Amino acid sequence: MRKPMIAGNWKLHKTVEEALDLVEALKDELTGIDDADIIVAPVFTALGKVAETLSGSNISLAAQNCYPEKTGAFTGEVSPMLLKDIGCRYVIVGHSERRQLFGESDEFINRKIHSLLEEELQPIFCIGETLEERENGRMYDILTRQVKEGLKGMEAAAMRNIVIAYEPVWAIGTGKTATDEQAAEAHAFIRGLLQGVFDQETADATRILYGGSVKPENVDGLMAQDDIDGALVGGASLKAPDFARIVRFKRN
Ligand code: 13P
Repeated sequence: MRKPMIAGNWKLHKTVEEALDLVEALKDELTGIDDADIIVAPVFTALGKVAETLSGSNISLAAQNCYPEKTGAFTGEVSPMLLKDIGCRYVIVGHSERRQLFGESDEFINRKIHSLLEEELQPIFCIGETLEERENGRMYDILTRQVKEGLKGMEAAAMRNIVIAYEPVWAIGTGKTATDEQAAEAHAFIRGLLQGVFDQETADATRILYGGSVKPENVDGLMAQDDIDGALVGGASLKAPDFARIVRFKRN
């Protein structure tokens, strides 16, 4: 019922030339796959060329960030309108690196999500607790706050165009993946939150991706969990064979 989604977040990696080499390789490796949505999120400077290369393929384009205003005196920022113009279909928002390194608040992330929906772009909305929050027993409070504040003012119907990514901060770039059980538990909790904020139908229809050290070796176990609908992949998305293997996770 929920189509799997595998998204590669390239973070701050790859020149335009390197990005094009990677997408050419991915196009070859992933030809014909239509039972999963496949997405890559290169750096801003590579988006235009990558969009041209991906045109007509089964791989969609995402940006890694945006600013909530359309145009204006906002030096250095890029708006949803411009990302749509260049061929993006998705935009990652609320990534823990942006929350932690750039001080992004739930309120600011909420503005970005509204702004993306106005442009008919699909937010990939990231949430997740730190190790300290988990160890202090605050994980559920943190996830509740991030979901409720991040999705404030959203109609249930809007959730059709929003993807949630649960990325426990302690699992990002550390090689320490959440166990299948830990991930499954968090995903079930998030789906329960969506039911509370919206309704059962919306909760059942919303895709929730897992992110944090997803690799060819652990993707099958994660994807076998009922509430895990896909993966947001960092490091392993930078190598075509690894990302292709993740996209080809074992179907049930
Ligand atoms: P890694 O897969 O490198 O742990 O990164 C996860 C991530 O942050 C994806 O957005």
